[in-house]
Amino acid sequence: MATSASMETKITLLVAVLLAFAASPSRASLSFNFYATSCPAAEFIVSNTVRSASSSDPTIPGKLLRLLFHDCFVEGCDASVLLQGNGTERSDPANTSLGGFSVIDSAKRELEIFCPGAVSCADIVALAARDAVVMPGGPAFPIPTGRRDGRISNAANVRPNIADTSFTMNEMIKLFKSKGLSLDDLVTLSGAHTIGSAHCNAFSDRFRMNSKGKLTLIDKSLDSSYAEDLMKKCPLGSSASKTVDNDPETSFAFDNQYYSNLVAHKGLFQSDSVLLEDGRTRAKVEAFATDQESFFRSWGESFLKLTAVRVKTDDEGEIRRSCSFAN
Ligand code: HEM
Repeated sequence: MATSASMETKITLLVAVLLAFAASPSRASLSFNFYATSCPAAEFIVSNTVRSASSSDPTIPGKLLRLLFHDCFVEGCDASVLLQGNGTERSDPANTSLGGFSVIDSAKRELEIFCPGAVSCADIVALAARDAVVMPGGPAFPIPTGRRDGRISNAANVRPNIADTSFTMNEMIKLFKSKGLSLDDLVTLSGAHTIGSAHCNAFSDRFRMNSKGKLTLIDKSLDSSYAEDLMKKCPLGSSASKTVDNDPETSFAFDNQYYSNLVAHKGLFQSDSVLLEDGRTRAKVEAFATDQESFFRSWGESFLKLTAVRVKTDDEGEIRRSCSFAN
């Protein structure tokens, strides 16, 4: 019975993803099985690399998923975030806490051996993020490929295109809309914070130092015992490299716990908490908190839209030889 129910979920998810793909205006020339002749093992090589890296380091899935978000929101999903050098996106302070680059490089190295010059870094980033969600128990589904790599990567483009935790709901809606993403996509994709971690300074705006030099909670929307816990983990003067789990309950599982946390006033960032507080998104948060299958279905659709943001295809861009440098 359980098996047939999960099979049904998988089929529904697949149909939802295929319909979303057909309806997407930015699908350009992406296609399923794009590498069927040029590199049949492409997806296998990427998922194998992600699997082996994640099994030796469980922080890898979170890193790969965030890498995709920061890639797609700046210049589209074109691997511009991977380019190294002065003044590139990667050098911007908003991107210094990104990780997972070595996993992408290692998949690319293997792909260059089996199918030289065939598989773009942009597709590797998208496939790796898709697989990064599957590793900790999230939904699996096909995504179209055929993205090409961009040649432009400019640090000045990062801040205007990446959401900050202090953003109001209106600011987040505006940013997501500019990428072709809806309010529902915003709620769904924020569910990525069910895995991974954050540096103490990413949520320090929720606290301030009182006259006795002690941290106190400013943001009353946060559960007080959770706030205490955060202040203990991130005391004043704690190391810049200190991190806490985004999801205090099931940090290494891709599940709907993020939404239960929000309902319990335990959203780590102000931009998470606002999803419960705002009347436009509260109902969706509450629905996902009680129904993981509907979150997973939405995830498939929204992820597909995210990975199609302003993609370069056909004769645009290039297939990089090394993901860190343009050819
Ligand atoms: C909606 C606005 C969003 C804001 C303001 C935001 C902000 C942040 C911040 C500040 C961090 C902590 C970074 C650090 O200190 O290391 C973080 C982590 C993370 N974010 Fe978001 N994020 C947003 C949306 C998204 C989306 C759409 C995704 C992916 C679909 C995503 C995936 C992640 C992941 C997986 C992590 C954990 C990274 C790790 O473990 O290294 N975020 N986010």
